[in-house]
Amino acid sequence: MTTQERDLFSDVNVMEDSDNPTDLEKKHVPVISAPDSVSAGEPFKVTVEVGKLAEHPDEPDHFINFITLYAGHVYLARLDLVPRRTKPVMQVWVSLDKDLGPLRAFEYCNIHGTWEGRKEISVG
Ligand SMILES: [Fe+2]
Repeated sequence: MTTQERDLFSDVNVMEDSDNPTDLEKKHVPVISAPDSVSAGEPFKVTVEVGKLAEHPDEPDHFINFITLYAGHVYLARLDLVPRRTKPVMQVWVSLDKDLGPLRAFEYCNIHGTWEGRKEISVG
C-alpha cells in the first residue's frame, strides 16, 4: 500500500523508502539535524525542519500546525505554528543524561496528518 492509498489520519506516517521518497513524504517528514554522538549532560543543538526535502504549503487551509521532539519516548520540546507568519523549523538545545533511543520528531499537517522523522544518536 502506498502513502497516497492509505488513510493518512489512521496512524503516524513515515517515509517508507528513503531511497525513493514520494512528493507527499518529502513535504511532510520532519528532518532532524543533530550530532551523531554527544556526551552525557552536554547541551547540543537540534534542528527539526519540515519541508526541507520539498516545500510544504503555508496557507490558512493547509499548513504545519506543530512540531514535537522526543528522545525515544521521552518528550523534549514542542513548537506551535500559524500559517504565513511562521516557518516549520524548530531549533532547541537539548541535554541527555543517557541513551534514550533515536531522536524522533513529529509534525502535524491539518490536511495530511501526523508524520514522524528519526535520527539515531548515541549518548556516551
Ligand atoms: Fe500537508
